[in-house]
Amino acid sequence: MTENKSQQRELILAFESSCDETSVAVVENGDTILSNVIASQINSQKRFGGVVPEVASRHHVEQVTICAEEAMAQADVTYADLTAVAVTYGPGLVGALLIGVSAAKAIAFAHQLPLVPVNHMAGHIYAARLVKPLTYPLLALLVSGGHTEIVYMRAAGEFEIIGDTRDDAAGEAFDKVGRVLNLAYPAGKKIDDLAKQGTDTFNFPRAMIKDDNYDFSFSGLKSAFINTVHNAEQRGEELARADLAASFQASVIDVIVTKTMRAVREYGVNQLVMAGGVAANSGLRARFQQEIAAHTPNVDFVVPPLRLCGDNGAMIGAAAHVFYNQGVRANGQLNAKPGLSFDYMTPERQLELSK
Ligand code: KG4
Ligand code: ZN
Repeated sequence: MTENKSQQRELILAFESSCDETSVAVVENGDTILSNVIASQINSQKRFGGVVPEVASRHHVEQVTICAEEAMAQADVTYADLTAVAVTYGPGLVGALLIGVSAAKAIAFAHQLPLVPVNHMAGHIYAARLVKPLTYPLLALLVSGGHTEIVYMRAAGEFEIIGDTRDDAAGEAFDKVGRVLNLAYPAGKKIDDLAKQGTDTFNFPRAMIKDDNYDFSFSGLKSAFINTVHNAEQRGEELARADLAASFQASVIDVIVTKTMRAVREYGVNQLVMAGGVAANSGLRARFQQEIAAHTPNVDFVVPPLRLCGDNGAMIGAAAHVFYNQGVRANGQLNAKPGLSFDYMTPERQLELSK
């Protein structure tokens, strides 16, 4: 049985439930998506203007089995064909993570399959592996609703955070500013679209752009934006929404691109991977493409397609392929770790932590 399996293709069933997307995927050999079922809760979370943890958990409970069955059916595989089961065990909302972890543990146990624990942020980076092979050393820019980090990867499975946000994450800033413009949550895509019709006339601050580190801060920009809008309201003036969106986005892009490009030059990497929900931003993508073509044409810029930038199970399956082959395994004791970090992570430490 085991021998047979080793001659077969490697198939990983992967679960993701760290925030407001329940997703289950089947990934072959870490680079081919056989299925990637995503049940989004955006419509119900919209009503609250953000993610309510209890609402998220309830949705995950309702969706996880349906998504798993659908993922297996779409991939046209049976449990006996699987090589391993993988799951996001952090970082994220504890109640949300627990649903995926419990489901993955149950399936791994019932079918006697190895269980591979995956860090959600590693998953975002390895989404790029579904596009093309990764060549190390590389830098990954992780820009999502919860994170803004520059990660140095010397080799597969090794992560060192060289820059982080001191306050709000980039996506969080997009969402908060969107609320001031009465845009529904999550507002990133809507601001991106509005920005295309406007120009940077407000010249908002570019926090920490000249500092000699790779950290970010977006709360000052958020406050400047909110004050500008509120002051205008008090004067009974209405500001051009498209120009506000374009000005906000220009400030975020300037800081992120300037600091990341400095890191790219300093670390002498082969690739720059951009990942996470904000990697879907069209202005950010275009600006990186220009900068790299102009200044570091030898660096390969890899961005997953839009559907793989947001949370999804396939990216967890892609990361799990690397960890599985490095021997990372969890047992039935695996628990959700809401504050899990992958800083200074190596395959050996990962193995230790997942116990
Ligand atoms: O990675 P993700 O799906 O979930 C987290 O793990 O956080 O990222 C969601 C974030 C939200 O803040 C959303 O507003 C932002 O990604 N986002 C965008 C765009 N599309 C989604 N931000 C800017 N421009 C976009 N086009
Ligand atoms: Zn995410």
